[in-house]
Amino acid sequence: MLPRINPTNTQAWFLLKKHHEEEMSRRHMRDLFAQDADRFQKFSLQLGDVLFDYSKNIINQKTLQLLLQLAEDCKLKEAIHDMFAGIRINETENRSVLHTALRNFSDTAILVEGKDIMPRIRKVQEHMKDFCEKIHSGAWKGYTGKKIRYIVNIGIGGSDLGPYMVTEALRPYWKDDIQSYFVSNVDGTHISETLKKVNPEETLFLVASKTFTTQETMTNAHTAREWFLASAKDEKQVAKHFAALSTNEKEVTAFGIDKANMFEFWDWVGGRYSLWSAIGLSIALTIGYSNFESLLKGAFEVDEHFRKEKFDRNIPVLMALIGIWYTNFFGAQSEAILPYDQYMHRFPAYFQQGNMESNGKSIDRSGNPVNYTTGPVIWGEPGTNGQHAFYQLIHQGTTMIPCDFIAPAISHNPVGDHHVKLLSNFFAQTEALMNGKSENGVKVELMKADKKEDEIKKLAPFKIFEGNKPTNSFLIKQITPQTLGSLIALYEHKIFVQGVIWNIFSFDQWGVELGKQLANAILPELENEDAVTSHDGSTNGLINAYKNFRVA
Ligand code: F6P
Repeated sequence: MLPRINPTNTQAWFLLKKHHEEEMSRRHMRDLFAQDADRFQKFSLQLGDVLFDYSKNIINQKTLQLLLQLAEDCKLKEAIHDMFAGIRINETENRSVLHTALRNFSDTAILVEGKDIMPRIRKVQEHMKDFCEKIHSGAWKGYTGKKIRYIVNIGIGGSDLGPYMVTEALRPYWKDDIQSYFVSNVDGTHISETLKKVNPEETLFLVASKTFTTQETMTNAHTAREWFLASAKDEKQVAKHFAALSTNEKEVTAFGIDKANMFEFWDWVGGRYSLWSAIGLSIALTIGYSNFESLLKGAFEVDEHFRKEKFDRNIPVLMALIGIWYTNFFGAQSEAILPYDQYMHRFPAYFQQGNMESNGKSIDRSGNPVNYTTGPVIWGEPGTNGQHAFYQLIHQGTTMIPCDFIAPAISHNPVGDHHVKLLSNFFAQTEALMNGKSENGVKVELMKADKKEDEIKKLAPFKIFEGNKPTNSFLIKQITPQTLGSLIALYEHKIFVQGVIWNIFSFDQWGVELGKQLANAILPELENEDAVTSHDGSTNGLINAYKNFRVA
């Protein structure tokens, strides 16, 4: 059982509040750097090919020491142990949280209800590997005897975002003769536009759904099946073109997918943590099974680090604590994730679900409303596009937005001087956000531009950058399956640590259920022309206007 500790009642929280008010709230990072020549060495860590620089934060040794004390006060060590040990820490669903078992390359047994789950995991992994070999070699044939060339993953949320993000991030590793697509939205446009790009003879559909009951996924899957049967005209051929990635064997068979084409996972894998499971089959088919395995290995390396490393050298723990420092003591409401890598364009969206579905909670583990802020809004776009869109607000807006900058040192596309230009922006932005531009600096610049004194006076306030905007930098040797696996696991564990300290349950998502229930209730009301009166005035008005638009 995870502890029930209101973090605001701990001694560390009290001391952090005091430390913030008295010492850090007006502290400028410029001064912190000026006072300590070794700040980068002290506040950066390297794990494999991932360098984590957290020196550009409004922290000093005392801040860290108090944050680490907060982790101790909230019994983080015990919580980490419990997660890896398979204790049912997802109490509201009565489940263990063991996505880490899916990337366990040690010989350690992992017990759920007294049974080692590793043999079952390895069996499914063997099945996935074997299936990939068959597809890639052409031994697996479509209903007209052709090789599979197109993979269409049909899923949503965790059954889409992870595989989509990873396959995009690892495009340089794509198998030559495989083209993958991802369909998630129940908007018929998504499946229709995708089906225009593939053909029934050479397409494999992966119906990816933990529950196999999700409305969006099942609707898209049925449409794909009808589209396929319109050409194949034989239900028996479905087995050659549809596979299921799910925990729900009953529903899979009811859909008509052969049990032999079902890749199983288990209820101790949360949807948004499922890319390491059978849900990753689209990844393995796209980049090859050995690359998928490297992804898992990269994550395993981080799991070992997270479990064993002391907290003051533990990257996910530090990421989480720094986030808490800004959310709870500086009042930051959002965090930006800014990958300087075009292939990683879905990384912020992936961790939008990861963070916001996990820690978007306001009830603590004892069932009481929290009296402090929990999960921030997560957002972001690849640099340098963001620079020309929303960075203005980060530099000179009124709210603090802590940012994570992520960049590879080596590009997969070393054309001309693109990469040095990209990286010069990566380095420049965190420097600018930290240093800002002083009044004096602005005046000197304007004088050099031959501006007159009264003009300088008028313009200067707009050109001053306060700076002191916190950033973390992740400099990665190159985005490979291994380093990407590590990076994802770092962020996953950050979310876990924050959830433990915020005293909330990070592995359920009851908040998304209400919308689903209401949509199910409204659906039959949309299937006739009668005026609706059963809802509130606005909802009735909208539904009736929708009906009128359709008949007019
Ligand atoms: O949005 C709620 C949710 O349950 C997510 O947690 C999950 O990733 C998604 O729906 C898809 O669920 P499933 O894999 O069961 O189709």
